[in-house]
Amino acid sequence: NRILLVNGPNLNLLGTREPEIYGSDTLDDVVGLVERTAGGLGFEVRAVQSNHEGVLVDAIHDARSDCDAIVINPGAFTHTSVALRDALTGVRLPFGEVHISNVHAREPFRHHSYLSDVASFVIAGAGVQGYAFAVQRLVAVAQG
Ligand code: DQA
Repeated sequence: NRILLVNGPNLNLLGTREPEIYGSDTLDDVVGLVERTAGGLGFEVRAVQSNHEGVLVDAIHDARSDCDAIVINPGAFTHTSVALRDALTGVRLPFGEVHISNVHAREPFRHHSYLSDVASFVIAGAGVQGYAFAVQRLVAVAQG
């Protein structure tokens, strides 16, 4: 039982990047939260963060053989990437889309996502706690 955790561009800067929007928790804190949440439900975690679209596509492809579900915060690629959408639909794994901030209360260009209509669910504006909610929901989805 394994969940792939994907974080996209600039999320390596969590904790120092615009803390008034994204809070003070770091990416390590997020990975720890996801590991604890998943671990309590009997799931392992593989965590990847990259600023490069193709690296994220490859990580999603690799999940096909050994993961049951994907939690993804695609960062700015949310609003631009047909490639990430095609990777996610291509591997046929259930995934939850997470945004730390409430993207719908921000600039209009953040209101559209290339992923939301093919996601199992979308969580936005719950802070980093959204990642934990996503794990809980995906475990329920993966267990049918
Ligand atoms: C984000 C929202 C995106 O619009 C932005 O580009 C990010 C982070 C979020 O977690 O709120 O990098 O996905």
